[in-house]
Amino acid sequence: MGAMTDQTGGEPLVLGIETSCDETGVALVRGDTLLFDAVASSMDEHARYGGIIPEVASRAHLEAMVPTIRRALGEADVDLSEVDAIAVTAGPGLVGPLTIGASAAKALSIGLGKPLYGVNHVIGHAAVNQLVDGPFTGRSMALVVSGGHSSLLLVDDIATDVTELGSTLDDAAGEAFDKVGRLLGLPYPGGPHIDRLAREGDPEAIRFPRGLTARKDQEKHAYDFSFSGLKTAVARWVESCQDAGREVPVADVAASFAAAVVDVLTAKTIAACRAHDVDTLVIGGGFSANSQLRDMAAERCAEAGIDLRIPPIRYCTDNGAMIAALGSAVVRAGVAPSDLDIGVDSSMPLTAITV
Ligand code: KG4
Ligand code: ZN
Repeated sequence: MGAMTDQTGGEPLVLGIETSCDETGVALVRGDTLLFDAVASSMDEHARYGGIIPEVASRAHLEAMVPTIRRALGEADVDLSEVDAIAVTAGPGLVGPLTIGASAAKALSIGLGKPLYGVNHVIGHAAVNQLVDGPFTGRSMALVVSGGHSSLLLVDDIATDVTELGSTLDDAAGEAFDKVGRLLGLPYPGGPHIDRLAREGDPEAIRFPRGLTARKDQEKHAYDFSFSGLKTAVARWVESCQDAGREVPVADVAASFAAAVVDVLTAKTIAACRAHDVDTLVIGGGFSANSQLRDMAAERCAEAGIDLRIPPIRYCTDNGAMIAALGSAVVRAGVAPSDLDIGVDSSMPLTAITV
């Protein structure tokens, strides 16, 4: 294969750029080794709006891009001229923010005369694990859960062969947490607040529905998720409590809601591991910071004899390391670089690892 190596004959040095949402991430990866990961976030500017404002995020990326690149190079003690390839998120994500990252990556590619690789953000959330726990050996399962996605992926080769087994039909897991957070009157994003509250509540206090787990869903939606019915059930339960003049037991609601989400996520994921004879599970994406998910996945994977890999939280949220990690895998697999006229794709399918 036409694997690229740097001038010294070692592993290629890849600079990764991530701008799909509010984080400007820039990282340098050599082989499977992370040299430095620099992240700037515009979340503070969005919090008061209760959601990400794409134009505000785009402007923040534009201002943060060069300082973040400089910081990553400085901390990694690398000169721009040493970089062998540029990887950038081509989608999915917000078009404006993605465009800023892609433009910066194209400019670097032209200026340095080095190849550009437009890569899939969701697959990057799985790829980053290799920097932490080492290369994937054989077939693995990846559950990518965040504010924007909930996907179950069968990974035969992270650079060339990933199959989407299922995804959410409506809200992503983090999005469902954020929406329930809003209805419980918690600040945005609600996910981490519900996590904290849930630790003080009883997960069995209220039996909320488990989406797409009925027998009729087993055939068509065995590995798909749906959280919007659950969100409505929580809203109704809270309303009826208020209508009856009772104080809402917020911690019990949070714990019971969180239990419903992570019960479905882990049960379906472990069923998929069994069905495909896979004994390594990687969990990634911002929602994998969730402690209820971490606890239940650890418990159920131990029971099922599955090796569970969840990276530290800073690699679960959006960052440049995930894009550099996937770029590095793709470069080493000899995948053709992207054309310099590529666009960005807000709903880039999981059938595309690169563009
Ligand atoms: O991956 P990420 O940083 O951005 C996206 O690509 O969406 O994920 C952020 C999402 C938000 O919905 C946030 O509320 C959720 O992950 N989240 C959590 C926790 N930490 C972050 N949800 C539940 N529990 C947490 N501890
Ligand atoms: Zn993400």
